[in-house]
This record gives sequence, C-alpha cells and structure tokens, in this order.
Amino acid sequence: MELSIGFLASHNGSNVRAILENIKSGRLEAKASVIITNNTTAGVIQIADEYSIPSYCFNKNNSQDPWQKVLNKLKEHKVNLGVLAGFMKEVPQFVLSAFSPNYFLNIHPALLPKYAGLYGIDVHRAVIQSRDKESGATVHIVNEEYDRGKILTQLKVPRYNTDTPETLAARVLAAEHILYSYTLAEIQKGRIIL
Ligand code: GAR
Repeated sequence: MELSIGFLASHNGSNVRAILENIKSGRLEAKASVIITNNTTAGVIQIADEYSIPSYCFNKNNSQDPWQKVLNKLKEHKVNLGVLAGFMKEVPQFVLSAFSPNYFLNIHPALLPKYAGLYGIDVHRAVIQSRDKESGATVHIVNEEYDRGKILTQLKVPRYNTDTPETLAARVLAAEHILYSYTLAEIQKGRIIL
C-alpha cells in the first residue's frame, strides 16, 4: 500500500520526528503529506518546518469548526492514513465516518486494553501505582470507542521497582519510536492489512 501520511500531534512530536527520520533514511517507504496540530506552541510545528512539510493548527480559539478544517486538509493533501502521534483529542464521529474505517491509527503509551483513556504521564503514573512488571506501547486503529480500536502491534518494556513515571515514560517513548515506524512499514509492505 502506498502511504500518504497525515500526522495529528499535540506536543513535542518526537514520534513524528522518529517516523520522518525513518522515511528520510529509506527504512520506511511513505510520503509525509501534512502535519496538523491543535496546539499553537506544539514542538511538532518546528519539526514540520525542518522537514518542509505543510502544517496547520486548528483549535476552538482560531476556528469555529476546527474538525471540519482538519477533515478538509486531510482530503486536500490526499492523505490515506491518519497517524495520531501524541494527539490529545478524541476524533469526532463525523470525521471518522468521512473516511474508511481503518483510516486513523493511534499510538498509546501502555499495553492496551490496560490503561485506556489516560493521557501522557498519567498513563505511567497509573502503571507505577499498579503491580505490573511491564509496560509498553500499542498501535491501534481509532474507532468511536476511545483507545478501544483493534490492536495492530505492541512492544513491551520492563517496569522496574525503582521507576518513576518519568523514567518509565522515557523507556516507553523509546519503544514507541521503534514500534510506530515498524507498524507503518508492515502496512506499506502489505504484511498488516488495514
Ligand atoms: C507519547 O508517549 C504518546 O504515546 C502519548 O503522548 C506522548 C507524545 O509524545 N499519547 C497519548 O497519551 C495519547 N493518549 P511525542 O509528542 O513526543 O510524540
């Protein structure tokens, strides 16, 4: 499958950067068509500039219908795979149903179905409070049930007794950087069928 990726990201964009690096080095065959954020100060905007990828910021402060604008840009840039990478908003039903059912993927910083519905550092706090001996990253399809879409891939990391939410987050993030590009490459090669 030829990939034309549209990224949705809210913060630093380290997952976006990792994927762009893999595209640049030829490890992943894909086109990064557009980067969309909801946060005017997101680091991912600078990454878009660095890689000369068109980027847009839509939110309630600058638009009456930010999601309609997101939808339009994904179509305008002929995106065939929406890649949520550190995107802290739920995709509304009308946007999901404007595309094919497996159009949007997300990466979650835990081993779903555990710790669904939590964001960022809160996920790692919850794992630290549990007795789990491992955590990891999950790439899944986005559907109308938040963090409950079909799981495509997972990568585990150990959780140590000495971990803080921050040390665990860093270990999981390193796993995310491997897992997302791996998953996209498997899709591109037709070994994961969407
Ligand atoms: C990542 O750990 C990602 O899995 C998480 O936010 C971080 C963003 O990092 N996403 C969520 O919690 C969404 N539920 P990044 O901006 O450096 O890629």
